[in-house]
Amino acid sequence: MRLHLFARILLLCAAVSNITTDAFISPASILSRSKLHLSSDFTLYSKTPTPSTPPTPSYPTLRGTSTDSRQIVSQTSTSAYRLRHVLLASESAAEEVMTLLKNGKLLFTEVARTFSACEITRSKDGEVGWFDFSGHDVSDHPLDPILPLSIRSELAVSTSMKPGDIEMFTSERGVHLIQLVDVMVDVSAKTKTRQRSDANTWSTAVDPSNPKKQLYYTLETMGCQMNIADSERMSGQLQNLNILPLPPTSPSSSADVVVLNTCSIRDHAEQKVYSYIGPHAKRKRSGESVSIIVAGCVAEQEGEQLLRRCPEVDLVLGPQYANRLGDLLEDVNNGNQVVATEPEFIIEDITKPKRDNKVCAWVNIIYGCNERCAFCIVPSTRGVEQSRTAESILEECKGLVQEGYKEVTLLGQNIDAYGRDLSPKRKFSDLLSMIGSIPGLERVRFVTSHPRYMSDGVVDAVADCESVCNSFHIPFQSGSDKVLREMGRGHTRRKYLNIIEKIRRKIPEAGITADVIVGFPGETEGEFEDTLKLMEEVKFDNVNTAAYSPRPNTPAAEWTNQVDDDVKNERLQRINKLNLQHAKERRARMVGGFEKVLVESRNVKNPKQVFGRTGGGYVVYFEGEIGELEGKIVDVKITASSTYSLTGELC
Ligand code: SAM
Ligand code: F3S
Repeated sequence: MRLHLFARILLLCAAVSNITTDAFISPASILSRSKLHLSSDFTLYSKTPTPSTPPTPSYPTLRGTSTDSRQIVSQTSTSAYRLRHVLLASESAAEEVMTLLKNGKLLFTEVARTFSACEITRSKDGEVGWFDFSGHDVSDHPLDPILPLSIRSELAVSTSMKPGDIEMFTSERGVHLIQLVDVMVDVSAKTKTRQRSDANTWSTAVDPSNPKKQLYYTLETMGCQMNIADSERMSGQLQNLNILPLPPTSPSSSADVVVLNTCSIRDHAEQKVYSYIGPHAKRKRSGESVSIIVAGCVAEQEGEQLLRRCPEVDLVLGPQYANRLGDLLEDVNNGNQVVATEPEFIIEDITKPKRDNKVCAWVNIIYGCNERCAFCIVPSTRGVEQSRTAESILEECKGLVQEGYKEVTLLGQNIDAYGRDLSPKRKFSDLLSMIGSIPGLERVRFVTSHPRYMSDGVVDAVADCESVCNSFHIPFQSGSDKVLREMGRGHTRRKYLNIIEKIRRKIPEAGITADVIVGFPGETEGEFEDTLKLMEEVKFDNVNTAAYSPRPNTPAAEWTNQVDDDVKNERLQRINKLNLQHAKERRARMVGGFEKVLVESRNVKNPKQVFGRTGGGYVVYFEGEIGELEGKIVDVKITASSTYSLTGELC
């Protein structure tokens, strides 16, 4: 089928290549005519921001809100766009290609390499480079041979595209498919800065009497895997600035740069922040040179308020700015206090993350959340959904394999919603299969799945693709339909159980974990028991349990039917007991069996042992030499089990 379509498209493309190639000029002559800064790899980039006045977008708004995620691109701080390009002979060829792209059968880069009639970009997988729209309307433009004036003009007023999107434009040369790969945003235009009255800025962290003094940072991470991944990115940027991690033997009070990456999912998050930064603020007040950075969800939630409560803070950085720490530190270095919390496109990483693990790596594939669960603060702290392009995700995963990584965990708040914000839309199941077939990548995991988007296709991809681990994390939050409705979860108890049945039918050995909340406003004893019954029915490998915690700017926090703390705590204890019992049973059934374990590290509590995980996500400890076993998948006989782990013997 794939070959058949390829052949048809090739025939359709053959027509255009004869007509159009003569009209093209070589990259070298483009470079000589360029008025912009052109680097040797054919990158067009000018720093002059050229805001366009876009028409109102006609895209559907996010469910239940008046926010349109696509409006972000029209903000005036966008200064340049990175594009890829394909030229095809006819609309019918273009439509066939679009269908293949949509189904995940082809990547844009493959189409460019294989079918494009544009000689200039074909050898670069379609890469046009960075395009600044200033002067796009002149006829003697360096991009003329790739994108004629009519197309540049259309692109300049197009507000509908955001990174990852592909659109079709027609000119006298044929049909052009253009992918917007990335957007360059002027960060300083999007952040508030305040000139400091004191001189205690980042620059003064350099001792004037010893300007060559090595600077050290400490970075504390609270919360979920997303925060861990953001922290690894921030570490990468700090080390790129030659600021090194504080040696473990040095006290945190000797750090020159202090970063706290915060989580606001449960209560008292703000208090934790103030008590953590308090001692460093004191150091600063007593004249020590230290820069204090508050990142993550509390930073986004509190914004400028953090500077008011703690004037010693230098930089408040929302999760969407984790990639921009380096740029923002420059502002701090210039003597400003900076608050970077405005919604923002998350640009592709310019700096490599400094990963903590040598075997397993986190890879973000979708940022933000478009859901509006009545209890949850995440949509207001992490912004709207933004899927990365399949090309950039695959590139990152292949790079990790080359660096020696064996396992990637794909990250997203609702990972199964991947691609629905892209144009054309893409499916998570297709992406999973593509990543699962990268040579040398032994294991692929993914978190977190939302029951609303969990499709049969995802279960099939897990079942069919050997390297994709048989492990699912699917929060259910409650076993009561009434509570689920009030939470605004978009799924019922039945729908959730159907997903579990499908998984267990196709992949009986799959590990299944989840999240649940007890004591949601209005939850009765009977509704809580429905949750216990659901857990009895499924018997999870583990459930992250939490008592409902009212969060600022969330609807449920305002409701008058709050459940008493005593009742919440009592329900939490009961659900924890059941969870422990199931976790224990699920692991006990594995004793006597054999498992394939990817060895990650030494067991810090017992140096004779190493540990790793099975495909289903179960942690296994066994005796062995880490130097020999690290990063290897080995057969282990399971000899004993406890509540959350297994013990075994190397076969
Ligand atoms: N996107 C995931 C989903 O809905 O399937 C959940 C992500 S959320 C960051 C992680 C977990 O935190 C949720 O599944 C929920 O159980 C818990 N959580 C979120 N808000 C909470 C609140 N206000 N009180 C208690 N737990 C909360
Ligand atoms: Fe999103 Fe939070 Fe619900 S992350 S899916 S709003 S639990």
